[in-house]
Amino acid sequence: MEDYRTLEDQARERIAAAADLSALEALRVEYLGKQGSVSALLKTLGAMAPEERQEKAPAIQALRQSVFDALAARKAEMEAAELEQRLAAETLDLSLPAPEMPKGSVHPVSQVMDELAEIFADLGFAVATGPEIEDDWHNFTALNMPESHPARAMHDTFYFPDAAPEGEPASSSAAVGQKRRMLLRTHTSPVQVRTMMSQGAPVRIIAPGRVYRSDSDATHTPMFHQIEGLMIDRGIHLGHLKWTLETFLKAFFEREDIVLRLRPSYFPFTEPSVEVDVGFAIENGRRVLGGSGDEPGHGWMELLGSGMVNRRVIEFSGLDPDEWQGFAFGVGVDRLAMLKYGMDDLRAFFDGDVRWLRHYGFSPFDQPTLSAGVGARA
Ligand code: PHE
Repeated sequence: MEDYRTLEDQARERIAAAADLSALEALRVEYLGKQGSVSALLKTLGAMAPEERQEKAPAIQALRQSVFDALAARKAEMEAAELEQRLAAETLDLSLPAPEMPKGSVHPVSQVMDELAEIFADLGFAVATGPEIEDDWHNFTALNMPESHPARAMHDTFYFPDAAPEGEPASSSAAVGQKRRMLLRTHTSPVQVRTMMSQGAPVRIIAPGRVYRSDSDATHTPMFHQIEGLMIDRGIHLGHLKWTLETFLKAFFEREDIVLRLRPSYFPFTEPSVEVDVGFAIENGRRVLGGSGDEPGHGWMELLGSGMVNRRVIEFSGLDPDEWQGFAFGVGVDRLAMLKYGMDDLRAFFDGDVRWLRHYGFSPFDQPTLSAGVGARA
């Protein structure tokens, strides 16, 4: 019995002195583990005479319980001390600014498209879309560019390999027939045709989106963005076009002194066709929009193509050109972004370089609105 007491005292003393959790675990194994000294004492009970067992069993059980409790108490103590220490060390100063988090930004092309949608919504234009994989008929024929039209060659079109309709050999004339030939749309103008066909007249839409041409240098990429505008109604004339473009460009560039020059031009799908230039001045070596390009030191920059929708296009789209007239325009979104936000290489738009995006991107909170400004910088 004395031995038990000595063993217990010694064990409790060593447990109290244990420096850390691993020392404590070593002591647990030493006393209560399978080969532990207290476990060994428990095993001796089986071989004892009943009287002796009755006498010693409670003492050994008490010893085991005592060691067990001492281990648990010391462990709890250590864990509490560790928590205290961590709480003391890990202070959190809530008055500090939030840490820098990785965050994305809105691409200037998306931002400009949102700006344009906002400006044109105010003029009553809805946003329309069409497929980027387009057929020959919508992209060319219905826009008054038949098979042999020379303007087709100027579009550097990406064609798909001829696809035959079910059951026909790929080389059959029907398969190669103009309506079936598929391509990547070379402009957003096919959306004019699609919208007139699907919703009839009157129409007031803009159609932003990707277009494709086999062309690549600092100002051309094989994929770029255009926005198409179309207004069809009764008695629409060039004056409506000019006012609409002027209103749009003043709102977009946020300057009242934007001056436009309309030049006669040619597009198969508009008649008459008008190329629109915008006046700029040179300030600190940079072109700054505003003012007449005819003033000394000023110039004109070609901005967009437009015109009165050709009656053939209105006919192709299923409307009566004697009843419905309208104007259309097409402008490069990337180019608008470059002019407004000062990038000089178009190719960087599509590199996905995060440094460029961080610099030229917009905050998702920076929603363009006419009241707060369509060009607020992040
Ligand atoms: N689709 C023409 C282009 O891509 C632009 C345009 C659109 C011109 C509408 C006139 C009217 O160059």
